[in-house]
Amino acid sequence: MDFNFSVNDVLPVRFTCIDGSMLPDTFHSADRQEVAECQHKVAVILDKIGESSGIAQGLQSPVTSADRLRNSDHKVYLLTNSEGAGGLGTVVGLLKIGRKKLYIFDAAGKHHELTPICVLDFYVHESMQRAGCGRMLFEHMLQEEHIAPEFLALDRPSEKLMGFLKKHYNLERIIPQSNNFVVYDRFFSVDPELLPGYKSNIKIDYRRAAGKGSFSVARASGRAFVNRPAASMDKAQRL
Ligand code: ACO
Repeated sequence: MDFNFSVNDVLPVRFTCIDGSMLPDTFHSADRQEVAECQHKVAVILDKIGESSGIAQGLQSPVTSADRLRNSDHKVYLLTNSEGAGGLGTVVGLLKIGRKKLYIFDAAGKHHELTPICVLDFYVHESMQRAGCGRMLFEHMLQEEHIAPEFLALDRPSEKLMGFLKKHYNLERIIPQSNNFVVYDRFFSVDPELLPGYKSNIKIDYRRAAGKGSFSVARASGRAFVNRPAASMDKAQRL
């Protein structure tokens, strides 16, 4: 994806992380004009690639945009190709993550209030898909966030993302949830109390839960999830 300015000037390294400040983690200047110019270009990049991601997923509105990232505690990792667009550089992909407070069922049907890192948006430009770019970007994020893929929650993952996780990380069996998020069975391979944001003192009205004591672990099958418990105890706020 190219732009009418030099991507390499704004994003000078292959992997960049942008947070609510709207500045790349590589940016170092106290000059107000330079800050404003950089923020503007970052906004243009995020809006354009966010829109393409939304279109690729058939969403009504993009999950990633400058407005949505600005002042949030989420992060967008970008992968660039410095040789693209005749040396101006191109943006190849985005991966947006952030923590969300969620109620998550374990395989026994017990709720846990947690604040996991969630994959909110993931996109590689059509011209570069299935060439390992997604894996590179994902691996970079895992390293930066010091997390293993099984401890991520995924916001409404697409078939492609599920295929990606199965192929690269052998993640296949999901635990059905009462919200739009997906976790895999290995999410609970450690004691839930050790997971980020665990809260032991919540009171859960189990009568509002699915009406059964345990849930079967199901094979991942795309955007519509099977065996979802009927009652929604989702307290996560969709972007
Ligand atoms: N159909 C099925 N599986 C696919 C497809 C596809 N069109 N594209 C990628 N995959 C999966 C496959 O397992 C594939 O392996 P294979 O080619 O051997 O079958 C594997 O991903 C390829 O791995 P990479 O090359 O590292 O991944 P890629 O660069 O293609 O990026 C991504 C993966 C980001 C999912 C990309 O396909 C994409 O942008 N898809 C469209 C947008 C999308 O669905 N994003 C996820 C939204 S859900 C969310 O973000 C929570």
